[in-house]
Parts: sequence; C-alpha cells; structure tokens
Amino acid sequence: MDYQVLARKYRPQRFQEVVGQPHVTTLLQNAVRSGRITHAYLFSGPRGTGKTTTARLLAMALNCEHSDKPTPDPCGKCSSCKEIANSRSLDVQEIDGASNSKVDDIRELRGTINYVASRDRWKVYIIDEVHMLSNSAFNALLKTLEEPPKQVVFVFATTELHKVPATILSRCQRYDFRRIAPRETVARLVQLAKDERIDVDPECLSLLAQKADGSMRDAIGLLDQLHSAAEGTLTAARARELLGMLPEETYRTLSEHLSRHESKEVLALAAKALDEGADMEEFIAGLTEHLKSLLIAGLEKPTPKAADGASPSPQDLLRMIGVLLELARDMRRSTQPRTLLEVALVRLARMDDSVSLAQVLDGLRRLGSPSRPRAAEPPPKKGQEAPPISSPSKPLGSLDLAAIETRWGQVVDSLQKEAMAAGSFLASGRPVGYRDGVLQIAFPQTNAFSKEQVESKHRAAVEKTLSHFFNTTLRIGCTLTPNPPGKEKEDPAGDRKAALATGEDSGGVRRVLDAFGGEIV
Ligand SMILES: Nc1ncnc2c1ncn2[C@@H]1O[C@H](COP(=O)(O)OP(=O)(O)OP(=O)(O)O)[C@@H](O)[C@H]1O
Ligand SMILES: [Mg+2]
Ligand SMILES: [Zn+2]
Repeated sequence: MDYQVLARKYRPQRFQEVVGQPHVTTLLQNAVRSGRITHAYLFSGPRGTGKTTTARLLAMALNCEHSDKPTPDPCGKCSSCKEIANSRSLDVQEIDGASNSKVDDIRELRGTINYVASRDRWKVYIIDEVHMLSNSAFNALLKTLEEPPKQVVFVFATTELHKVPATILSRCQRYDFRRIAPRETVARLVQLAKDERIDVDPECLSLLAQKADGSMRDAIGLLDQLHSAAEGTLTAARARELLGMLPEETYRTLSEHLSRHESKEVLALAAKALDEGADMEEFIAGLTEHLKSLLIAGLEKPTPKAADGASPSPQDLLRMIGVLLELARDMRRSTQPRTLLEVALVRLARMDDSVSLAQVLDGLRRLGSPSRPRAAEPPPKKGQEAPPISSPSKPLGSLDLAAIETRWGQVVDSLQKEAMAAGSFLASGRPVGYRDGVLQIAFPQTNAFSKEQVESKHRAAVEKTLSHFFNTTLRIGCTLTPNPPGKEKEDPAGDRKAALATGEDSGGVRRVLDAFGGEIV
C-alpha cells in the first residue's frame, strides 16, 4: 500500500485506541501495572493489525516521564512518549529482521545492549519480521536471551510465527494479534473520516474493510488513496471503480462457466471486465479469493458433485487456485500479461480433462506399480512388498525417509478417507527429510496455501495418521521448495511428477497419463 500518510497519522497513542486486540492490550497493561515485566515478548499476527504500534505503546508504558515507574497508561505527551511515537527515541530501537538478518548485526546489537539506557529507564528493542533472521543470527540472539541484561526488553514481531524457531519461542511471552473484524475496522474508519472531514458512504467503508481483509493499515491506506483520487462523496460504486474491483456476481458467473468447461464464455466475461477497466491483478486476486471460499465451503460441507458440474471438486479447486497463484506471480514479469491471463483461464476451464492425483495413483496401481501390488497381479519381487493400505506397519526398528517415501501415496489416501480436507492439502507435499521423529514435508511455492493448512489447521490429523501408519510418534515440519530455474511454468506439474515418481519409475506415470489421454495440469 503506497498511501501511508493517514495510517501513520492515526497510529494509536494509547492502549485503549488499539482496535480489536483487547486480549493483548489488557494483558500487557495488567502486567505493567503489577510490575511483571519480561525480557522477551513475541507479537505474532497478520500485517497491519497493530504489532509495531503495541510494541511502541509498551515502550512508552515503560518509559513515560509522567510516572516514576512503568505505567499502564502512558501519557503520550511527554518527550519520552513523543520520541517513541515518532521513532526518534535513543532507547527504543526498531530493527528490521529482514535487513538485519546477518549474524554480525545481532552481535553488534549484543554489544550495544550492555550500555545502560541513556535517559529512559528501559531499553527496548523492537525486532520486526524476526522470522527473517538467519540461523546464526538466531543463535546469537539466543545467547542474549539466555542472560538478558537488566532493564532491557525485546519485542519480536512476526507475520509468520511458524518460521520462528522453537528455541526462541520458548523464551518469549507470546501475544497473538488477530485479523480485525470488518465491523471494528468500519468503526475506526468512520471516526477517522469524521476527524479528517472525508465525505464517505458507510457502504463504501464496509467495502474497504472487506478488501483490507483484517488489516487496519490497509483499510486506512485504501481510504487515503480514494480520498486523494476522488472528488465529492465517496460511494461504494465509485470505490469499486477506482480500485478496479468487480462485483462478486462476476466471479460467481465466471466460476460457473469454469466448472461447465465453457472456455468461450469465460474468455468473453473476462474480456468484458477488463475492457471496462478492471485491473488485471485485482481480477486474478478476486477470482482466487472466490475459488478459495468455494473450496473452504466445500471442505466443510462436502456435497456430491452436482450433475451439471456446477461445483468443482476440492481437488479441482486446489489445482485452479494453484494455477492462479502461479499466474499472479508470472504476470508481474510478463510483457504480455493479458495473453497469459487468457491462456490460464482456458487452462482452468479445461481442468477436468486433466488427470487427478488420485486417478494417477489408481492407474499406477492398476498398471502394477511395484510398491502398490494388487492381489490379481503377479506377485512382486521379494522385499518390495508393501502391506495392504489399511493396515499400519509393524513397529519399525529404524524408520527412514525411503520407507516413508515408498508409502507416501498410501498415507495421503488413508488421510483423505478420514479427513478429506487434510488429505487434499497433504497431497501436494512430499517427504524430503526425516530425522529424530520429525518428518520434513516440502510443498511447491505455488501450493503455499496447502502448506499453511497442513502445518496449522490440519497438523494434528496429519501427525496422527503418520504416527499410526509408521507405528511411532511422528511430527512434521513443512517447507516450501523454490521453483526450479527456467521451469517455473511447469512447476506444479513437475512437483507432482516428482512426488508421483517417488518410489516408482516415472515412466509408469507417463504410461498412466497416456492411458488416460491426460496431461498433468
Ligand atoms: N489494532 C489497530 N488499531 C488501530 N489502528 C491500527 C491497528 N493496527 C494497525 N493500525 C493502523 O495501521 C498502522 C500500522 O500498524 P502497525 O505498524 O502496528 O502494524 P503491524 O501489525 O506492525 O504490521 P506489519 O506486520 O506490517 O509490521 C498504524 O499506524 C495504525 O494507523
Ligand atoms: Mg510492524
Ligand atoms: Zn509520557
């Protein structure tokens, strides 16, 4: 978001002004009131929800000159409070983890923190995007946290909690910031519009809150942007126009055409929207968002596929979303974005012609893949026989990656039977490392959404199935694999191929694909 002026101007100067995070602010105020101040805090949560703001408020609470000890209600007016608010305080330093990711920077930091706070009572280090620190920088940081100097407080902030090592997590007091509810965002925007004398319809503010998706900064930024661009009353219609947003209806119609494989209609609808001035990136984001909500609704309430094909299966939706995410990334570098978009839309409309993962696995089974023998087929070579799908392994003396790889397809199948959503997400990952009871699963960049789902919401189900399968307690770690250079366009397919080829010959995959007359999309 480019427009930051209003957002900066309206950064809360008191705990009470922080919207939507009472579980954080109240706890912090109580801790300060009773003098229970810890050395390390970790603020996690989506962007623009108040992490940096709250970190500064904590610094003010510790250092406000209107009180001789830390106060839950810093004045916001004394020179200490003001300097902190304007990030000019010598004793409150904000460090960007992304640009200070090297170990030297942390060492340097360790060097400076041993000096006593220059005037204020507490030295506060706010390390933003802490998950970006390198491993060695983390280690240097850990040393500091083991013996924190007196009067020093660290506040780490992150939008990606799962990337913060457990060793750091365990030394911090954790506060999770939430996406801000549209209602609360609107209330703040109403107040702000009033103060700034911006003439805006409530409906327009609801639209901005919805588009900001829980980020107060984005919501304020959008209002700022519209206000600078438009004259007269800001209406929802004007906002849609200026922000290049399409009505939800367009996406609904589009996805119906997609699931009926009506490429022509899909292209016509897209052309109409773009010719009327819709922004291409916005168009892709909107469609992705719409398909994502269909996917989530479908996973929560699985319904048999409608006869007219109007509701794509979760697998198809996942693959569609994958294609769109890939498209969004490629578009930025393309000289012919519109062509890219059209090709992708045709690909989406033809999605069902492609072979699904489950079908391929099934086909492999039928072709007599060595790892998945069927009773009717000639017995496999000795030593390669895998137990039937439903029964877990005997206790394994030494479990290794190869053993897990061999049975990966079965794990996915079995999970899919118990928890369809979890299984569908896991299907796009593959095992890449195993050590000390922790299995590393890699997902292609284009399936970052699946990765997120597996490591958060569905972690317990995945770990349970794995543990059951290999008869030992297994935990998981998830990573994203970079797209191989020069192969980015084929990536999801390449990755799936790699996953499929695990433990079986890729010629087998080819044969199945040929048998199905399909392509890996
Ligand atoms: N909870 C909130 N209540 C009121 N205003 C907020 C809130 N969160 C964010 N804002 C507004 O957004 C601006 C940016 O917020 P802040 O810097 O605290 O976000 P953040 O969570 O640190 O984001 P990031 O993860 O991108 O660093 C603030 O100046 C303020 O105007
Ligand atoms: Mg921040
Ligand atoms: Zn003060």
